[in-house]
Amino acid sequence: MNIVNKKLLAKETKEEDIVPVDMRALFKDETEIIPEKLVKKYEIRMAVKKLSHWYGNNHVLSGISLPIFKNKVTAIIGPSGCGKSTFLRDLNRMNDLIKISRVRGKVYLDGINIYSEGIDLIQLRKKIGMVFQKPNPFPMSIRDNITYGPIIHGINKAYLPGLIKSYLVKAALWDEVHDRLSESAFSLSGGQQQRLCIARALSIEPEVILFDEPCSALDPHATAKIEDLITKLKAEYTVVIVTHNMQQAARVSDFTAFFNLGELIEFNSTRDLFRSPIRKITEEYISGRFG
Ligand SMILES: Nc1ncnc2c1ncn2[C@@H]1O[C@H](COP(=O)(O)OP(=O)(O)OP(=O)(O)O)[C@@H](O)[C@H]1O
Ligand SMILES: [Mg+2]
Repeated sequence: MNIVNKKLLAKETKEEDIVPVDMRALFKDETEIIPEKLVKKYEIRMAVKKLSHWYGNNHVLSGISLPIFKNKVTAIIGPSGCGKSTFLRDLNRMNDLIKISRVRGKVYLDGINIYSEGIDLIQLRKKIGMVFQKPNPFPMSIRDNITYGPIIHGINKAYLPGLIKSYLVKAALWDEVHDRLSESAFSLSGGQQQRLCIARALSIEPEVILFDEPCSALDPHATAKIEDLITKLKAEYTVVIVTHNMQQAARVSDFTAFFNLGELIEFNSTRDLFRSPIRKITEEYISGRFG
């Protein structure tokens, strides 16, 4: 389903005016921070161009430009308050819900700017799903957590039993819950609840999944399960993950963006960023000397 809805366009805009841009070309003048070889080598799924964000007068993101590569995991790291969650929520316009929030710049999904007119926010958020820091299952059964979204989106109910199993399998939870689907989601452990939330996000059939510190409330064992899952998910989905945990970024991500004070300081393959950071401040952050 297209994220542009004809009915939401202004009268003077024709559908054929909405032509996807060449996302690679957006980074021609960004080579100081975004390595050209990466842009040439990998397919871009989303592109952020000169994105700035304010809450009232508080300027929290300044001119962020970065590519999000298809079927890869991109980690966003940086000290508390540097704007990571804000950035993540800008990727599916979740911040629209915050009244004092204001955005300038562009975020492209498959070449279409999601901040242009005519964007159908329901379709957009269907394509770009989200998993939050604290597991937040709905106050209903395990089964209903999975079927809730598909039912709202009008699925034929005959498909539901198959879907429940397939999403729980994908979220590596089926073996643990298959015989207790009618129990409350709150009867699960924290790590299981987070995997249920991932299964719920998958049930909307997103193409991009945004994770905001998905493991920060979990113990090492539950964290390892989620990390393993994220690594598997990239075969089918494009993933962006905010994390405070350097080891986690190094383990799960293919690319890393280091933010500080609302600016993108460095972007590279995770291997290169951790092995040979270009900026001194990146080196200091990843070696734990500040933040
Ligand atoms: N809903 C909001 N209303 C007003 N200001 C906000 C809102 N959300 C975040 N901010 C402010 O924007 C700045 C960036 O916050 P954000 O949550 O994006 O940072 P973060 O990097 O995710 O931090 P953390 O690592 O602590 O989660 C902070 O100064 C924060 O106080
Ligand atoms: Mg945050």
